[in-house]
Amino acid sequence: MRIKVRGKRRLQGVVEISGAKNSAVAIIPAAVLADEPVTIRNIPDIQDVRTLIGLLQEIGYSTTYQDNVLHLKQVTKIDSEIKSDDVKKLRGSYYFMGAFLGKLRRIKMRQSGGCDLGRRPINFHLDGFKKMGAKIEDEGEQISINAPKLTGSKIDLEFPSVGATINIMLAAVKAKGTTIINNAAIEPEIIDVGNFLISMGAAIEGLGSPTIKIVGVKYFHGTDFRVSPDRIEAGTYLILGALSKGKGLTVRNIEADKMTSLLNLLRAIGCRIDLKENEIFIKTESQLQNFHIVTKPYPGFPTDLGQLITVLMLIVEGESSLKETIFSNRFSHVYELKKMGADIRVEEDTIYVKGPSKLNGATLVAHDLRCAAALILASTLNRGLTIVENIEVLLRGYENPIQKLQKLGLNIQVEEKKEDISLHI
Ligand code: EPU
Repeated sequence: MRIKVRGKRRLQGVVEISGAKNSAVAIIPAAVLADEPVTIRNIPDIQDVRTLIGLLQEIGYSTTYQDNVLHLKQVTKIDSEIKSDDVKKLRGSYYFMGAFLGKLRRIKMRQSGGCDLGRRPINFHLDGFKKMGAKIEDEGEQISINAPKLTGSKIDLEFPSVGATINIMLAAVKAKGTTIINNAAIEPEIIDVGNFLISMGAAIEGLGSPTIKIVGVKYFHGTDFRVSPDRIEAGTYLILGALSKGKGLTVRNIEADKMTSLLNLLRAIGCRIDLKENEIFIKTESQLQNFHIVTKPYPGFPTDLGQLITVLMLIVEGESSLKETIFSNRFSHVYELKKMGADIRVEEDTIYVKGPSKLNGATLVAHDLRCAAALILASTLNRGLTIVENIEVLLRGYENPIQKLQKLGLNIQVEEKKEDISLHI
């Protein structure tokens, strides 16, 4: 699938932000810990969510998913092996490891997939499970984890990994005894997942701090839980607002206190930012300044917005840079932006951009989720035609992006290839 964009910078209007992808992809697997039916609201309608719902159905759940509300009920005995290859389609499927350990004390599944951002080992997750008594057989493609006596432990993370913090938390909430996670990640999505678990009866203290204490419990009741808004989707549209020369963009249904690093940067380089209760208005009224930024764990500048912010560097005067410190290779968009004529290069872990760049039309390839979003942002800067191939990767993590962008005034269309169309017949 590909999209065609006729670029235009006069974009304006209101965009509604959906539920957080990185909360939802953990909360859905976490729901298997419930001993009663659960309802989860504000689940974004994205491909990763659809894949996880399919996996739940295969595991033994009846599901209904409509208007962003997901109802889940276990209807058959759950087998400890997830046979489907679909776990390879996304990263979040690895949360079945922690959740199954908590519920069944064992799991066998294929390794999860996700965006290619360089090396993405899961040694911190597995070391945590081992400390809780698990035996692991890692056969490359397949992984089996068994912990008949899953027991709370003190786990010191080498790095505040989002995935490891959540996965260990999922195993610990139903383990015997107390688990302490030191150097835990403090991303808002951890708090979201933790609150979901607490709403079912989990005993967790310290969410949002580097030390999380979990006392295992035996039974989880049902819940009706609402996922928080997606701060990365909101950031994507705020950067679009900064690029735009329209009357301003309102990004609605957000939690601004979770976006401080981005908002501070946008203000510092010259954007007008007005905050209201659950919305942010952004407008670029004057020439923006060049800037240098480093990605960091929360509350630092998020790696997930790194590729996107480099597009903003294309319109400012002088050299700007982004140092990526979380993933070893999150630069897939650089080569694509070069095809458009951007003056952009990578040296070691840093992207350098010289602006302003006059971009030309080109046919680009989206290599990963945030790369796709960055290329669409860049396409607005070129008045000609930009084609972005492999746009499926965008739909893995953004809800209704095409409709939302069209509503802001962008001429963007999806074009299915002949092979794609024949699949639907
Ligand atoms: N790491 C290890 N060993 C581990 C775990 C992580 O070496 O066991 C390393 C990673 O290789 C990486 C760093 O630690 O260099 C950070 O990884 P982390 O575990 O924090 O990231 P993740 O759980 O794989 C989640 C999000 C990412 C987001 C990062 C950082 C999900 C499904 N994914 O990934 O989201 O970039 O946290 O905030 O929640 C995205 O949305 O585009 C995306 C990639």
